[in-house]
Amino acid sequence: MLSMRQHHSLLDCNTLAIDARAHRYCSVTSLGELREALDYARGEQLPVLVLGGGSNCVFSGDYPGLVVHMQNRGLVVDEVNGQPLLRVGAGENWDELVRKCLDDGLYGLEHLIAIPGSVGAAPVQNIGAYGVELSRCLHWVEGWDIDRGCLRRLSASDCKLAYRDSIFKGELRDRFVITEVALQLHRRAQTQAAYPVLRDYLLAAGESVDSVHPRVLAEAVAAIRASKLPDYQREPNAGSFFKNPLVSAEQAADLLHRWPELAHWPMADGRVKLAAAWLVDCCGWKGRRRGPVGVHPHQAIVLVNYQRGSGEQLLALADAIIDSVNERFGVCLEIEPRVY
Ligand code: EPU
Repeated sequence: MLSMRQHHSLLDCNTLAIDARAHRYCSVTSLGELREALDYARGEQLPVLVLGGGSNCVFSGDYPGLVVHMQNRGLVVDEVNGQPLLRVGAGENWDELVRKCLDDGLYGLEHLIAIPGSVGAAPVQNIGAYGVELSRCLHWVEGWDIDRGCLRRLSASDCKLAYRDSIFKGELRDRFVITEVALQLHRRAQTQAAYPVLRDYLLAAGESVDSVHPRVLAEAVAAIRASKLPDYQREPNAGSFFKNPLVSAEQAADLLHRWPELAHWPMADGRVKLAAAWLVDCCGWKGRRRGPVGVHPHQAIVLVNYQRGSGEQLLALADAIIDSVNERFGVCLEIEPRVY
């Protein structure tokens, strides 16, 4: 039976520790409860916000509708064409899943260790780190299509995964609730480290980079992340607050002529991805505070809510950063977490 709460504090449901309130809130552990929650919202004519681990959202104020907190669990391993296919409930914790897979000898997720959030949220922004994105192993996504009123399965290509982007941020935004995710993994206890920081770390530890055990690679990724990214339990944050911007080859050439040290990565489509952290750092933001919020002293695109600031205060800081980067480099930064 669904328990509907009123004026519920979302403080413990978002890693930025923003103390916003939801007009209505419910935790959902099954498809039946999800349908009940959506029926309730339709009856009351309330907008719906589907929340996972709350690690990629900014509440700009109280939420005037129903927050549906997806907490359905479950993990099933099937064999398809001799390879393990995992079906995972959207409410499972992503990092716990990665660690369990490593313990069980199921490989493919090791680069994505220690990313906060839920399994159901992973396809929404196509989580990625150290040269690997979820798109590498996503097989399908199942969820409730709100307009059609039925369960629907989308293949990985239907999901239109791109850099920190998917159909769930575009045409299916607010129209599809992810309930289950299927991941195609493997049992080969070998992987490669192509990402420069990761290669350097492994080489310094005396490991091979072309044939490394996934567990060793995962430990390296976890250690690098811990050294660069603040722990949200102590310093509330939402990971990278800005996407790395994609610019045309011409604009990149122009910028690199003026700032040869600007970190950048050429993309398959001819565009160039620029390091947002470098651009923000260059504008002098690293370590700066504005009242209760600020920019992390070691990572210029991580905004931290040090003293219970509001979403508005965080967004005002983000706007000031966007303006200064635009003024100096003519590059428009985009906020990475979803703003509500
Ligand atoms: N840099 C600076 N100043 C800084 C920090 C970094 O100049 O304060 C430079 C670094 O020297 C480096 C470049 O910026 O050359 C990129 O920095 P880093 O390797 O730390 O990665 P990032 O681009 O800031 C991205 C992802 C992270 C992911 C890491 C590792 C995005 C928006 N962020 O960060 O993902 O963990 O690469 O793969 O793509 C997230 O999405 O929340 C997230 C943490």
